[in-house]
Amino acid sequence: MPSEVISNLVKNPQGIYLDATFGEGGHSLQILENFPQATVIGIDKDLQILKWGEDRLKVYADRLKLFRANYTDMDIILKGLGVDKVDGILFDLGVSSYQLDYEERGFSFQKEGPLDMRMDIHSGKSAKEIVNKIEEKKLEEIIRQYGEEKFARSIAKRICANRPLKTTEDLVQAVKEGIPVKVRSKMRKHFATRTFQAIRIYVNRELDELEDGLNKSLNILSHNGRIIVLSFHSLEDRIVKVFFREKGKEGVLQVITKKPLTPSPEEVKFNRRSRSTKMRVAEFI
Ligand SMILES: C[S@@+](CC[C@H](N)C(=O)[O-])C[C@H]1O[C@@H](n2cnc3c(N)ncnc32)[C@H](O)[C@@H]1O
Repeated sequence: MPSEVISNLVKNPQGIYLDATFGEGGHSLQILENFPQATVIGIDKDLQILKWGEDRLKVYADRLKLFRANYTDMDIILKGLGVDKVDGILFDLGVSSYQLDYEERGFSFQKEGPLDMRMDIHSGKSAKEIVNKIEEKKLEEIIRQYGEEKFARSIAKRICANRPLKTTEDLVQAVKEGIPVKVRSKMRKHFATRTFQAIRIYVNRELDELEDGLNKSLNILSHNGRIIVLSFHSLEDRIVKVFFREKGKEGVLQVITKKPLTPSPEEVKFNRRSRSTKMRVAEFI
């Protein structure tokens, strides 16, 4: 939904915009290309992807400032730049195509690679450490809570029985053993989708960081500045919905999208990964 994102985000053509999840720089590129006087501050905690995006957008280097950082540090980054407020903030959550496509990052259940799943490979525990070290009950909880997986208990059991797990394929195999064949054969999505999502969210502390990032946004948004969040599963979307609703009640934000916007069937046909995207927009009052 790139054009809807940009039309909802950019209200001041000369403004400063924060791309909190820069990734491959797709959204930043749209802003810089369409608004020759706008500036973008891009953050990503994945150094590899950031370097790749930096190279891709190098013609805009004079209006693009990039940081390998966590977006939860957005206030510190702005302070360092001597920037007080920004005119809009974009969170495009989840993993990037780049991260999914490189098997050595261990995000994909469709490609064999080491079990890693860290967006920032320099910090935190990898998926391998989590699945091999955490006790079965806790593993079950993670898979149920962050994957909304009905078979969390039997999957956790199979993971523990198959230890040590080394690769994404080992995890796929444990999940396969944990879900009855009859159920598996009728699933619309790949049977490992929910477990991989759960482990990834836990490894990267995604939901805690989202809450933190949304709260920090309120300190750096200018009057009428907008927050846009693109989320990919119900757990993220619920956090955004509740945050916008609460801040709406407090008179801090005006919610622009009463219901989340979703991609058109044409876009989904063109880009299958976009099919579960939900976009919410709010304006700082
Ligand atoms: C879906 S991709 C963004 C794609 C991007 N909008 C584009 O057009 O190319 C999400 C990106 O957010 C990054 N990310 C996720 N959580 C983050 C956090 N807390 N701080 C900084 N970057 C984060 C990931 O590393 C990933 O590159």
